[in-house]
Amino acid sequence: MSKSDKKKSNHLIGIDIGGTGIKGGIVDLKKGKLVGERVRIETPQPAAPEPVADVVAHIVDELSQRDEAPDTDTPVGVAFPAIIQHGVARSAANVDKSWIDFEVNKHFSERLGRPVEVINDADSAGLAEVRYGAGAGIDGTVLVITLGTGIGSAFVFDGQLVPNAELGHLEIDGFDAETKASAVARERDGIGWEDYSVRLQRYFSHVEFLFSPELFVVGGGISKRADEYLPRLKLRTPIVPAELKNEAGIVGAALQVAIHHKLHK
Ligand code: BGC
Repeated sequence: MSKSDKKKSNHLIGIDIGGTGIKGGIVDLKKGKLVGERVRIETPQPAAPEPVADVVAHIVDELSQRDEAPDTDTPVGVAFPAIIQHGVARSAANVDKSWIDFEVNKHFSERLGRPVEVINDADSAGLAEVRYGAGAGIDGTVLVITLGTGIGSAFVFDGQLVPNAELGHLEIDGFDAETKASAVARERDGIGWEDYSVRLQRYFSHVEFLFSPELFVVGGGISKRADEYLPRLKLRTPIVPAELKNEAGIVGAALQVAIHHKLHK
């Protein structure tokens, strides 16, 4: 194996499908970091299976042309904002309803001509954070909560992911929690950080009461603004911003493929 092949053998492609953008990158699994620039394309509207697969294929093609890209038959990991069980989507809170009960793994694998494995987007971010980021080395329950269009959650115990925890849909005070406490809910309702912190306080106290985690990690785009709201929260659980920021979904998508296929361990 040449030196560059050896380097590439740590690399896998990860894709993160979000409500506004579809992002992809080549992930170095030793470091938990992207190699080179990520590629981002607007999410087509409506974000139905065919147009989304076209964008994913375009991104994978572009990444595959780079010198650092893994071989073209290597599996690709995809993070998707829905419950994903055995490669099938079982919900569609913030994506086109046509995804419900859709065979997502099969659809992307056929379109890309190589194996594709899909994971819930928050689970993906959670895996990345406990392996490489803010949750690394923590025993017991770590809850990674992503604040974005909706609220995503990853439930990790002793480094093992318990998939598809949908804690963004807890009903609190008669509302689906994400309709009040997601980043998009804050923008939609035009509220400042102080009022938003009150909503987050209500949310995190409830989740803390239910699960008594060792640590909360807060991800999603607004984890960049964590100084505005995390210091205002009063919890007995430590709460910290995600470290991988916008890359967590991409890195975790690649990582779950590596774990599943026992690659690069
Ligand atoms: C979905 C989750 C997803 C989260 C973040 C929620 O509305 O139900 O599956 O992880 O949004 O995208």
